[in-house]
Amino acid sequence: MRPEHPIVLITGASSGLGAATARLLAAQGCPLALGARRVERVRALAEELAGEHGVPTFTQALDTRSTASVQAFVEGAVAALGGLHVVVANAGLAKGTARLDSVLEEDWQAMLHTNVEGVIRTIKTTLPHVRQSGWGHYFTIGSTAGHSYYEGGAAYCASKHGLKALANVLRLELCGEPIRITSIDPGMVETEFSLVRMGDEQRAKAVYQGVEPLRAADIAECIRWALTLPDHVNIDEIIVKPRDQASVNKIHRKPS
Ligand SMILES: NC(=O)c1ccc[n+]([C@@H]2O[C@H](COP(=O)([O-])OP(=O)(O)OC[C@H]3O[C@@H](n4cnc5c(N)ncnc54)[C@H](OP(=O)(O)O)[C@@H]3O)[C@@H](O)[C@H]2O)c1
Repeated sequence: MRPEHPIVLITGASSGLGAATARLLAAQGCPLALGARRVERVRALAEELAGEHGVPTFTQALDTRSTASVQAFVEGAVAALGGLHVVVANAGLAKGTARLDSVLEEDWQAMLHTNVEGVIRTIKTTLPHVRQSGWGHYFTIGSTAGHSYYEGGAAYCASKHGLKALANVLRLELCGEPIRITSIDPGMVETEFSLVRMGDEQRAKAVYQGVEPLRAADIAECIRWALTLPDHVNIDEIIVKPRDQASVNKIHRKPS
């Protein structure tokens, strides 16, 4: 049975899409478990949302690259909130734009450890609790980089193609259970993503120069929409891009 206010766990809630999704779902009355490495940001957000919407919240430092950290976060969340229905496996990043011949070891490892292994950990750890709740919905946050390719994006594209495979396999494996799986695959969204990728404010700003990119709230709205559809409807994937972005590399920029 679908609960009136599903209990939602979000990884990577300290910024961008994760924080925006927390805001929108708190406004719908959902109890929230919010985690990220920058736990002080997550705590501030939870306090704000609890004050504004009166929703129960749980926060804890979370590093999805660590099994112990994911387990502690999920167990703490379930104990504090009394169960778990919806998981937004959002924590992820891109690091650098180097070609494969020169990509830094630490960068490609960070992308694969976080974007693929971190999501496997998150799903494997939460699944017994979602099953126990009897109604659930998984959201993975992929990317248009999981549907195409670009030079300088080998590890990021590999990670998001891998994540897409993971979501599709999960849907096969859970077929017949009351759990939906939706992959949200955005194009360009203005968040801290480019700053993390480039490590430089100027280069990060240039990514959005002359374009109106998606906002994090646009992605949160996709999640809210898929979540609120009737139980028999599973949205497999949503590819969502700014109007001015026809493909990963075909972007219409207004002259400045
Ligand atoms: N922005 C875009 O254009 C875009 C496009 C397509 C897909 N995406 C995907 O959207 C997701 C969210 O990105 P965003 O755009 O919102 O970027 P963002 O503003 O940089 O947010 C990324 C979030 O992931 C968290 N995170 C990173 N590594 C983590 C780890 N090891 N453990 C726990 N949390 C971790 C960060 O928190 P801490 O640093 O505090 O841990 C932060 O909360 C990512 O999966 C990204 O690949 C983004």
